Amino acid sequence: MRVALGVTGGIAAYKAAELLRVLQEKGLEVQVVMTRHACEFVRPLTFAALSGRKVITEMFGGAGGEANVESAIEHIAVAQAIEALVIAPATANTLAKLAHGIADDFLTTLAVATKAPLIVAPAMNVNMWEHETTRQNVETLRARKVRVVEPDEGYLACGMTGAGRLASVEAVAQAVFEVLGLREDLKAETLLVTAGPTEEPLDAVRYLSNRSSGKMGYALAKAGRRRGARVILVSGPTSLEPPAGVTLERVRTAEEMAGAVVANLDAATAVVMAAAVADFRPAETRARKIKKRDGLQQLRLEPTRDILGEIVKHRRPGQLVVGFAAETDHVLENAAQKLRAKRLDLIVANDVTQEGAGFDADTNIATLVFPDGRQKALGKMAKFDVAQRILDEVVALRQAGG
Ligand code: PMT
Repeated sequence: MRVALGVTGGIAAYKAAELLRVLQEKGLEVQVVMTRHACEFVRPLTFAALSGRKVITEMFGGAGGEANVESAIEHIAVAQAIEALVIAPATANTLAKLAHGIADDFLTTLAVATKAPLIVAPAMNVNMWEHETTRQNVETLRARKVRVVEPDEGYLACGMTGAGRLASVEAVAQAVFEVLGLREDLKAETLLVTAGPTEEPLDAVRYLSNRSSGKMGYALAKAGRRRGARVILVSGPTSLEPPAGVTLERVRTAEEMAGAVVANLDAATAVVMAAAVADFRPAETRARKIKKRDGLQQLRLEPTRDILGEIVKHRRPGQLVVGFAAETDHVLENAAQKLRAKRLDLIVANDVTQEGAGFDADTNIATLVFPDGRQKALGKMAKFDVAQRILDEVVALRQAGG
């Protein structure tokens, strides 16, 4: 997992070296980006030696350096590669630029170019921190969902006392870990997650399938791993990269998925069935291609194995089971009915007719439905965030003695 650490020109810039070390200890790859002013306080070489990679200081090759195509598009490459951008220390000047979208150096351009979440840890003189413009800029950033790690109060390098001292390295690192979803609350769990579609072959070249991309299941696997769980991901055919650290079992058909789930069921403390498993398959699969000229008057289908049904049969005490319901009509009633029939601990209902929900979207709009009739409607959010909310419920169910 890659993050960028932006260092701006304040006396606290030297503390960013310690922050870099703490982030790396958690296994994060860190790309350091320094502003020109930051280089007045700490030499880039310090960060280069600690991070083991080139420190980015300039947009276009730098003072005396040759501008080239690589440096001109580097901000885009970094912007796309990172999962978070943390700026510590963040000066009043940088906060102002961030609040107004000014992109006049590598760091501020990166902040505008990336879709990764932004965390800022301001540090400055108390009067600058309390200045009306800084207050407004911080509020603007907060309203944009930027995570602001408030500075501490105390003796400041300028000789004054008050708020403005960079928050502790631990507090800044903790904010980064939280934004990335790095927690340890699933350390005791082995999650068995299913993802993606299944393909049910009709002949040598054709199959029946559905529009599942696997994004929801892969987001669950990634979130679970980041929260310390051992994760077994049983995936139908997708083009997605498996999240780091998960055990991946690739399957094609519903029958293969059922086999892989049952084989791993004993090891799992919790099962989350996000896959869109085919309910029917061709009753007969032809080994050769069906020729158009021969025609196909009818397609006879037979039901596939009901995987959740199998889980209910083999389930052991304490094993939590979460199902999904992809519905187009009577969404919550149908989901509640599936929850009862399969004796699930939780079902995640998604109305797949809604824009930004269900198949192939990067977002989902889900309602969590519980056996006691409670419902929690989650607004439209990234599938990774939906995954986090589902896993929060797994933690809550476990704490409640499930
Ligand atoms: O993969 P994405 O593009 O990110 O899309 C996400 C999603 C829409 C696939 C996901 O959010 C979702 O809703 N997954 C369940 C889809 C589905 O098959 O729903 P269902 O209502 O048909 O099935 C209900 C539950 O039974 C599901 O947990 C399913 O995994 C399970 N099932 C279905 C058929 C079968 N033979 N065995 C099963 O266990």
